Amino acid sequence: MTTDDLFLRADSAAQFLLSRTMLRPKIGLILGSGLGAFADSLSDFARVPYSQIPTFPQSTAIGHAGQMVIGNAGSVPVAAMQGRVHLYEGYSAQEVAFPIRVFGRMGIRAVILTNAAGGINLKYQQGALVLIKDHINLQGHNPLVGPNEDRFGVRFPDMSYAYSKRFGQAAQEEAGKLGWKLDDGVYAALLGPSYESPAEIRYLRTIGADLVGMSTVAEVIAARQMGIEVLAISCVTNMAAGILDQPLSHQEVMATGERVRGQFESLIRAVLPRIATELGPNPALPKL
Ligand code: HPA
Repeated sequence: MTTDDLFLRADSAAQFLLSRTMLRPKIGLILGSGLGAFADSLSDFARVPYSQIPTFPQSTAIGHAGQMVIGNAGSVPVAAMQGRVHLYEGYSAQEVAFPIRVFGRMGIRAVILTNAAGGINLKYQQGALVLIKDHINLQGHNPLVGPNEDRFGVRFPDMSYAYSKRFGQAAQEEAGKLGWKLDDGVYAALLGPSYESPAEIRYLRTIGADLVGMSTVAEVIAARQMGIEVLAISCVTNMAAGILDQPLSHQEVMATGERVRGQFESLIRAVLPRIATELGPNPALPKL
């Protein structure tokens, strides 16, 4: 596929989504394993299964509904993805990041990315929500590999400020107002789908990782290339391999996501208007 094809694909998917609603979403959300329920709380919504969106990748992971919900969270119009695709499903990093390209072409200038993660830092409790402040990409893939599409952004995007300081601060302030502390941490992304070995977790701790997961980083890289500002939050669904004397399971990941659903939703609801204010008036929509 040429870069022109990718750009046109993103444009036509964006146009299709905007044709399904009168709303013009300001913020895009990607809701990770067990965290998708937030999208069910939106008002004035249009739900669009990924299978209906032209050329959109289809998620196969359990716990991912596979639909885009465009609706209002309070007074903030958002586009929320219930479920994402992952490299471990066999998708390329370019496909994994495709929804971000679509968000960008919809005129979205900020995203909230969420995921389930294993806790490496021993100060985290299972069920904690953690602000991602940086990442370590150990997936061996990057969505920008191949000829550069200059209409998305530059060949060598800077990752020094990949995770928006002002959005992170707003999230920590809002968590404080809700009566709890939002810790921050460094997210290491691995390919998966097997969970890590205990030795790998000791290695990740040594190199400065606090959280481990199998998603998000390709999306962040594509977003930053497009100048989209990123807030990313992990739910520590389990302590990483070898920390507790017990096996890891996807059931546990899903159950923890479900358990913290209320807290997660309150935080996102509180943060959205803050981000919308920081962004200022809706920028002119990109020409479709
Ligand atoms: N490792 C990798 N990905 C994960 C984990 C984990 O422990 N928990 C949830 N997603």
